[in-house]
Parts: sequence; C-alpha cells; structure tokens
Amino acid sequence: MERTVSPVARLSGTISVPPDKSISHRAAILNAVADGSAAVENFLLSADCLATLECLRALGVVWSRRETAEGRNDLTIEGRGFDGLRESADVLDARNSGTTMRLLAGLLAGRPFLSLLTGDESLRSRPMERIVAPLREMGAQVWGRGGDTLAPLAIRGGHLRGIHHVSPVASAQVKSALLLAGLQAEGDTVIEEPARSRDHTERMLRAMGARLEEADGALRLMPTPNSLKPLSLRIPGDMSAAAFWLVAGALHPDAEIALSGVGLNPTRTGLLDVLREMGASVTVDNVRTQGGEPVGNLVVRSSRLSGTTVEGPLAVRLIDEVPALALAAALAKGRTVIRDVAELRVKESDRISTTVQELRRLGARIQVDGDAVVIEGTDALKGAACDSHGDHRLAMTLAVAGTVAEGSTAIDGADASDVSYPGFWRHLEELGAGVGLS
Ligand code: S3P
Repeated sequence: MERTVSPVARLSGTISVPPDKSISHRAAILNAVADGSAAVENFLLSADCLATLECLRALGVVWSRRETAEGRNDLTIEGRGFDGLRESADVLDARNSGTTMRLLAGLLAGRPFLSLLTGDESLRSRPMERIVAPLREMGAQVWGRGGDTLAPLAIRGGHLRGIHHVSPVASAQVKSALLLAGLQAEGDTVIEEPARSRDHTERMLRAMGARLEEADGALRLMPTPNSLKPLSLRIPGDMSAAAFWLVAGALHPDAEIALSGVGLNPTRTGLLDVLREMGASVTVDNVRTQGGEPVGNLVVRSSRLSGTTVEGPLAVRLIDEVPALALAAALAKGRTVIRDVAELRVKESDRISTTVQELRRLGARIQVDGDAVVIEGTDALKGAACDSHGDHRLAMTLAVAGTVAEGSTAIDGADASDVSYPGFWRHLEELGAGVGLS
C-alpha cells in the first residue's frame, strides 16, 4: 500500500507510544516457560509480537488476550515450565521478526523434539550462524540453509551444557538466545559481547528468580535450582517508536509533541542523548519504574540541530534509530558521521543502503563510507516518491520526512509500519499531518 504525507503548518499533540516490542516478545516467551500464570498488561499487538504468540501457541502454550476499554491489550499466559512445551505439528513462522526466530531457537535448543523455524524473505536472508554455532557448542543439533547459516532452521534440542561465548557482535538477540538455552543447561553460561546490548532479558530473568551475575564485562547465568517465577508486569512504551516523534518534533518549525510512558532503559536511550547533543529541546519528567524498567514522559519542541559524530557503544544504544537519526542529520547544520553500524546491513533491510537511497530521493546529502554513514546537513528536503523496502523503520522515517519536506511524499510499502507500530498513521494524523492513501 502507498501512503502520501503532506507538510502541515503545526505539529502538536500528546501521543501514548506503543508498548515496547523487545519487552513484549520477552514477556511472552519467558512467562511461557515459568511456573504459573502471569498477567502482562499493555502487550504490543504488532505483526512481530503476534508471530511470537502464534509460535508459542503452536508449541502448546496457553494464552489469552483481552482488549481493555482504553484500547490496551492485556495478556494472560499460563506458564507450565520448559517441560510444558510440546513439539509443534507444523513449521513455526517467525514472519519478519528476528527476535522471534533467534529467541525461540535458543528456547527450543533445550527441548527434546524437532522444531522447524522459518520466516519471510527478509528474515530468511538474515544471518543465523551467530546463534547456530554457539547453540551447537552447547549440545543442540541445529541445521539451516546455506551451510547452516540461514533459515529455515531445523532444531533437535537435547541435553545442553553451559559454554563461555565471546560474541563478535553486540546483539541482544544472540545474548537472549543463549540465556534461554543456558536456563536449560548444565553448568554456567557466560556471554561476552563487544558493547552492551539491550538488557531487558537480564532484568526480567532476575525478577523471575534466575541467578545472573555481571563481572568484567561478562554476563554469567548460573543454574537455577527452582523453576522461573511468573512475572506480571505492565510493558513500558517503546523508545524506538518514540524516536520518530522526537525527530519530527525537533525538525518541524512549529512543533510541540508530548510522549507519555516512554521506556528509558539506558541501553535504549542513545537517540535521546544524541538529539540533545545536537541541540534538540527535549524535556523528561515523571521518571518512574514500570515492569522493572525506567519510564518517563517526554516533550519535544522545534529545535535548531547541529551535526555530530556517533560511534562505539553509543551506536549500539541507538542501533534501531539510525534511519530516524539520519533524517535529523539531513536537516541539521553541518556534518554528521555515524560509525560502527555495520550491523544495519543485516536488519529487516540493508538499512545503510536503503536509508541512504531513500533519503537521497528527498534531496538529503547523505552517503556511505564503508560501514559508516556521512550526512551533510541541508536547509530543506523535497517530497518525492519513495519506498520502504518492506522495512518498518524506514517506512516511518520517510513519513516523518514527509511532514517537513516541501510538497508531498509518497511512500510505497508504507504499512510495513505494522511490524512494530500498528497505530502509526493514526498518530501521525492526530498530530496534524496530512496523510493520504493510494
Ligand atoms: C532486538 C535486538 C536488536 C534490535 C532488534 C530487537 C531484541 O537486534 O535491532 O530490533 O529485541 O533483542 P540484534 O540483537 O540483532 O542487535
């Protein structure tokens, strides 16, 4: 589907951003293997998280969903421990969701039955050897296409032993897959990664009674004598969804956007830090704890941005926000360099190429330098026909670009946004933007 976005004189309103995608996946998967029933409030009912829920159902997990009067989705999950999982009668389809595939692979590596995991064209082209190799080392039998590097994956789980894994990439999906396998393993599982990736799994596992320690940059999971306790929680809003409004509010010449209940986990707030450093006016208040995570309310106002450099651990803390950041940089004063983002090549699209290609159509002065992105700020963007490449984050970045570009911006494949943000286009209209369908 194609949508067009036209600029408006003012962008304002209050948005309750959707529930966090990463935390939603984890709340479903971890509670599915806990011992008892959990109530998960404010679950993200997006295409990715539905893929997780449907796979869990195919594995024998009982859950039910209820929509509240305010439109929130609440989930009840009946955990029956790891032994409560059953061999699925069919192939498990993770669709577009890397988190579903990699976390379930870790979970199923310890189960003594056959599991077949597939996904859409994008997911079937994403690297899986990063989980296949360590899961095999732990004792699981795992096969895949392309010399066991690509999905579909076939897993015959079995008796696992803990390993010490030094991951070449900072990846919460790899870390979480190994923790899920490690929970079923004999001995300790130790994971080291080059920079700290998001820590939602660790937070949740600790609250569920798992024994986790961190020392010298290594994470150690020790065998837990008891089963996991169910964890009832209310899922915070997604910083990665808030990101689009932070950039829209900062770039638009007359904007004031309030965002309520946004997750502020420090492993996820890189964009907030960088936008502020670039000169964005963003206030944060009412910081509280929700579901074991910091949460706050944000207000962003029209700002004059300047270029900056992003690299190292900071790049990991905003890895999903690079398309939105590149847009902000395209209209900032001076040069922005975003380094250490090679991982973007293996996201839902090759986000380095697709972001550069699509922002250029709008007149951005952006180019690739190896695995870095270099942007020279310009005064204005011009609306044009562009393409999401089936990538949710690119679809939403282009929509935000449409609110500030001259003329109208047509986005092919706009509804890729449903992967993580089902109400995105409604929210865009609520803020005042002109959105058309074609
Ligand atoms: C995610 C981890 C990140 C992130 C993805 C969600 C997660 O991927 O890009 O959107 O929920 O664990 P990697 O683990 O591949 O870095």
